[in-house]
Amino acid sequence: VVSGGELFTAIQSAFPAERIYVHGSNKSEEELALALEHRVGRIVVDNFEEIDRLSRLAMDHQTRQSVLLRVAPSVEAHTHEHIKTGALDTKFGVSIETGAAADAVRRLQHAANLDLVGLHAHIGSQIFEAEPYRETIQRIFDFARSAGAPVRELSPGGGFGVRYATADSVRSPESAVETIAGAVRDAAGGSALPMLTIEPGRSIVARAATAVYRVGSVKDIRGVRTYVAVDGGMADNIRPTAYGARYTPVLANRVLEEGDCVVTIAGKYCESGDVLIRDARLPMPRVDDLVAVPVSGAYQLSMASNYNASPRPAVVVVADGKARLVRRRETYADLLAADIY
Ligand SMILES: Cc1ncc(COP(=O)(O)O)c(C=O)c1O
Repeated sequence: VVSGGELFTAIQSAFPAERIYVHGSNKSEEELALALEHRVGRIVVDNFEEIDRLSRLAMDHQTRQSVLLRVAPSVEAHTHEHIKTGALDTKFGVSIETGAAADAVRRLQHAANLDLVGLHAHIGSQIFEAEPYRETIQRIFDFARSAGAPVRELSPGGGFGVRYATADSVRSPESAVETIAGAVRDAAGGSALPMLTIEPGRSIVARAATAVYRVGSVKDIRGVRTYVAVDGGMADNIRPTAYGARYTPVLANRVLEEGDCVVTIAGKYCESGDVLIRDARLPMPRVDDLVAVPVSGAYQLSMASNYNASPRPAVVVVADGKARLVRRRETYADLLAADIY
């Protein structure tokens, strides 16, 4: 989990606390206290202030907490600038290259009520190559040897790329895991192997959902572009606007028709940048057609907002020919629920 809200959600769903790893580059006192109260398995500490804060809180709570240290390994992952996290110039973790990580290990070894059990790195998302993982794991082991840091446990994070658009490469989570396990074996040499954890976020859930929009208007600017306006956009999916994510949509109600037109699927929010999909190949959409965007199960609804005071959409689970509402559509009253008059 990466916030107090995600931790609360996991606890509410009765997920075993000892299997929760708590992340975040600026965890608040309240978030750390909640994690300690529920006796989460690991807190992945990110910076020096957090080491001091967590140590003090663990003493207050009269508990010991196992932690991993998040290191930044200075590895270049070939992905969008906004979803890279393991380079030297990153807000996440402590840098191996600058010596900060070695200082953090020393600080942790003297921190009351904290047990440093291993190291963590997450180098970014939508990574399709094996090499950045191999390099990261090798650097973690080299660092651990030189800094005297324990690696009883090791997590090289997640970031396994999924195929959002037909142009994307295909890489199975199995092959990513094979690469990682092989790299750990190689880097460990003959020494004891650590307990390996991975954090495959989107590669588990992204393909589980399809976002469905209704077409409201079609505007052809002759010789320039055809805009197809739908009843959602950057409020329910910030990814295209935030970092140029691409998707391959279909018309759900005309799925067998040939995609012989190139159109741009525009969101409904009050920003020119609110464009969901540029240059989508579809049969010419008509009003009331349903634009289905596959691979919408990760970082969409979980990052949705009430942009322009828009209620967030409903979620329907479909299985074995049956549909079940698992999250109702927000109402206008929901939008005002936290306001104080
Ligand atoms: C620390 C950490 N681990 C794992 C992930 C999962 O990444 P992905 O969903 O790209 O696999 C993230 C995502 O930002 C993360 O911050």
